[in-house]
Amino acid sequence: MTDQTTPRVALIAGGAGGMGAAIAARLSSEGYAVAIADLESERLTATVDTLAAGGGDALAVPLDMRRIASCAAAVDAVLAWRGRLDVVVNSAGVWREGDSVTMTEADWDIVFDVNLKGAFFLIQAAIPHLGAGASIVNIASDAGLVGNNGAAIYCASKGGLVLLTKALALELAPRQIRVNAVCPGDVATPMIEFQAERYGEGDPDGYKAKLLSNYPQRAAARFIRPEEIARMVAFLCEPDGAPITGAALSIDFGVTAGY
Ligand SMILES: NC(=O)c1ccc[n+]([C@@H]2O[C@H](COP(=O)([O-])OP(=O)(O)OC[C@H]3O[C@@H](n4cnc5c(N)ncnc54)[C@H](O)[C@@H]3O)[C@@H](O)[C@H]2O)c1
Repeated sequence: MTDQTTPRVALIAGGAGGMGAAIAARLSSEGYAVAIADLESERLTATVDTLAAGGGDALAVPLDMRRIASCAAAVDAVLAWRGRLDVVVNSAGVWREGDSVTMTEADWDIVFDVNLKGAFFLIQAAIPHLGAGASIVNIASDAGLVGNNGAAIYCASKGGLVLLTKALALELAPRQIRVNAVCPGDVATPMIEFQAERYGEGDPDGYKAKLLSNYPQRAAARFIRPEEIARMVAFLCEPDGAPITGAALSIDFGVTAGY
């Protein structure tokens, strides 16, 4: 069992993003020392400053998930900072959509490198340093569980992340390390704004309304709040939490429940 006299340490990749920052804030409020890793240096600094201003114990870690060496360096930075690592959250991600005939090799590479390759190599770097009670949480997607018409590459990357999660859960179970995926529906973060601006054909509000039109709540449909995702992630990170491992937990207002 890991040392219980010093605070647990969490590494959150994509921690300056909408969900990542909420997860960092939640874990920080629960007493974790939080290493926030991201590609976007300005948002990274701002996220760490906000947490520190609120009394949180936070570190900014520059990270490019597309580079294996950068993933390893991020883990090294956390170990140099606090000498332990208990939680890894993969919340970095990129979205691309469009007819498959229009997709390029660059689209494929960035989606797979960030959403899947980086997640694997960050975990690989972390594994030797994780002890019993450690937890890994991958932010997958509803699009990793069911097909999302017009986002084939993104779906493939998130579906891969779900099965990566399950295979790693089996591999790491003898060491009492849990690995789970969280599969959100549409969450109110900069990613949704990016999608609506880039793919909304000049009508971002219409794009967002179309997303919500698929929800079984009908007129009461709304986007999920990042804090609602953070709550589930924090539960999965509890060292003596429920025996949940290898799960792909939906948090999507039922959009993947059926039709
Ligand atoms: N927003 C949604 O509706 C939604 C739904 C389901 C799943 N997801 C997934 O949830 C995760 C978090 O998304 P979000 O909504 O917070 O998006 P976001 O765009 O707000 O955050 C993503 C973060 O990943 C970072 N990032 C991108 N490329 C990187 C790289 N090469 N190296 C390091 N960091 C990089 C970005 O800088 C950003 O801070 C993503 O994996 C996304 O695919 C999002």
